[in-house]
Amino acid sequence: MDAVEELKQEAGIAACKYVKNGMKIGLGTGSTVKYTIIELGRRIAEEDLQIIGVPTSEATKELAESLNIPLSDLSEIEKLDLTIDGADEFDPNFDLIKGGGGALTREKIVALASNAMIVVADDRKKVSTLGQFPLPVEVSISDWDEAKEKISPICPGKINLRMKNEEPFVTDNGGYILDCNFGPMISKPDIYEKKINSIEGVVEVGLFVGICDVIIFSSLSGIQILTKPNGRL
Ligand code: 5RP
Repeated sequence: MDAVEELKQEAGIAACKYVKNGMKIGLGTGSTVKYTIIELGRRIAEEDLQIIGVPTSEATKELAESLNIPLSDLSEIEKLDLTIDGADEFDPNFDLIKGGGGALTREKIVALASNAMIVVADDRKKVSTLGQFPLPVEVSISDWDEAKEKISPICPGKINLRMKNEEPFVTDNGGYILDCNFGPMISKPDIYEKKINSIEGVVEVGLFVGICDVIIFSSLSGIQILTKPNGRL
């Protein structure tokens, strides 16, 4: 395992201390929270941990099923105790850019249905101002080019339709992703979230504002746990 992978694993596993018997847990998507999910699977198998998971993507569902984690969805469970997920960037206000893996819409729905949210990340994700990572915006396939036109006056850089194997990348919801190069200038993410979400054809923007309570991030000097003042954890 290389050094970055080790950092992801450390952060992913560290989040598991917040998970207690009987909890309903939102299971995020990505290469860091994967380690959280693997550790929860181990605790279920070896320590009789009793939880129910709600996955945020088909990939996470598959992983959780392979680990025998009992699963449900928001049509059966209205409120979750906690969501644990990764992030592409986090700022000093605990606001996030997410959607590098294309699962941002379900991730936001699940996080908003949770009493609290923990982000697991390595220190490359820590920024002073959001936007260096191209902001993912999920758009409907039928309106994606009009949505791109309408986002462009507020996005100073290029907007790219996300591709995979030379075809547009299609999300689990059947949408496309526009990766919007704002640059590190999103100091008021709530304003951009509202503006972009009001554009026709936009399904969801990958700005998570005021949702995250704890950030667990690892660097070569160890694990740091940042707890939001007046947060829910
Ligand atoms: C998926 C996401 C991921 O949480 C985000 O991309 C971070 O992933 P990773 O831990 O692999 O860097 O938002 O939609």
